[in-house]
Amino acid sequence: MRPENTSTDPRLQAVTVLARVEANSAHAARLLGGATPAERELVMGTLRWQLTLDRLLERHLRTPIAALDIRVRAVLRVGLYEARRMRTPAPVAVAEAVRLAKAVAPRATGLVNAVLRRAVGETWPGASDAAVPLSVRYSHPAWLVERWRGLLGEQVTEDALAADQEAAPLYLLSAVSALDELTAAGCILRPHPTVSGVVAVEAGVEAAVAALRAGRAYAMDPTAVAVARVLPEVDGTVMDLAAAPGGKSLVLASERPGGRFLASDRHFGRTVLMRRNLALAGRPLALMVADAAASPLRPASCQLVVLDAPCSGTGTLRRHPEIRWRLRPGDLAELSATQRTLAAAASELLAPGGVLLYATCSLEPEENSEVVAPLPFEALPLTARLPDKLSWIELPSGGAVIPPSANGDGFTVHLLRKRT
Ligand SMILES: C[S@@+](CC[C@H](N)C(=O)[O-])C[C@H]1O[C@@H](n2cnc3c(N)ncnc32)[C@H](O)[C@@H]1O
Repeated sequence: MRPENTSTDPRLQAVTVLARVEANSAHAARLLGGATPAERELVMGTLRWQLTLDRLLERHLRTPIAALDIRVRAVLRVGLYEARRMRTPAPVAVAEAVRLAKAVAPRATGLVNAVLRRAVGETWPGASDAAVPLSVRYSHPAWLVERWRGLLGEQVTEDALAADQEAAPLYLLSAVSALDELTAAGCILRPHPTVSGVVAVEAGVEAAVAALRAGRAYAMDPTAVAVARVLPEVDGTVMDLAAAPGGKSLVLASERPGGRFLASDRHFGRTVLMRRNLALAGRPLALMVADAAASPLRPASCQLVVLDAPCSGTGTLRRHPEIRWRLRPGDLAELSATQRTLAAAASELLAPGGVLLYATCSLEPEENSEVVAPLPFEALPLTARLPDKLSWIELPSGGAVIPPSANGDGFTVHLLRKRT
């Protein structure tokens, strides 16, 4: 939902959104529905570069930035982001930040003016400046960078961090999107280089967003499409257990002639949204509101189960930059416990010899290989099932971790056959 502030000033809107993201753990992308491109850039860019901005600001602050009022922090970050990462001349960005401070935190006007005037002249750390830690160069928490180094190695980690710092294009699933209509409306669509059946909207995003709202197109990340496609073809029952908003189900239902498709999700509102999305597939699919841990289906009644589990989302930081500032290392154990419960329930639903697709848009082992390890399954090879040019790393568990890149979000996927 948009903030109550009805101003058309993108800077004021951005500060209001950023304060809500921080104070209420709100999702930035959700608050930006209907936002102007300028407001979106100010919010997402500031969130992406928050750590780098804070380091430069703190050189001119007497206290850590975390000790300041939330709105003052937001004004300082937005002002420095605009001065250093957008085309606004620095004096204009500073003057605008001072004007904002007068509106939202009048007592901090002097501080904002003094700090920003100096901070805009600081050197921005270069991408290859080895004297500056990766976490500051690419604005990610140090603990996450250290994990990824261990998991992905130095170069892949740096590439993933760099990818997280760029805005993700809008991608559409071709088979269920009215592409001719969009082209006629002026959209320029570019086929994805690695994942077939996906196009990036290069121009005419407004028309594409209007088509999405009208239920004439479906937006989906290319890696998520590739992950759905690793499933083998079957004739029996296919159950998608945490299915909303329906992307993986849509790919399967629109591309697989065989199989009886069922899907469920715990959240009623998301299943309502999913029902509308599924209409695009033009194929019946039974949809239930159900907790995956207590599915109404009989044990051993499915040949294929998809569990695209709720997760930390560390593969989606370019779309959801605030996740990196909110997530704590300790959260992973809690997420892992939920995922283990859901994976065990998924296992119950499978007939012996049946196949489980377990995936998350997280790169973290606690949410992936450690979840599937105790299950009575053997891993199926993924080499021939993932697109040729997609980069991924094989895990000792037999799964694949797909790092975030300019071409798609990060995911971890396991394809597992239940032992007979
Ligand atoms: C990663 S999303 C699934 C995305 C979906 N597969 C797609 O491709 O569009 C995870 C989903 O799990 C659902 N969820 C969370 N806990 C659940 C539970 N205990 N049982 C069923 N669904 C659950 C959430 O509502 C959310 O829709």
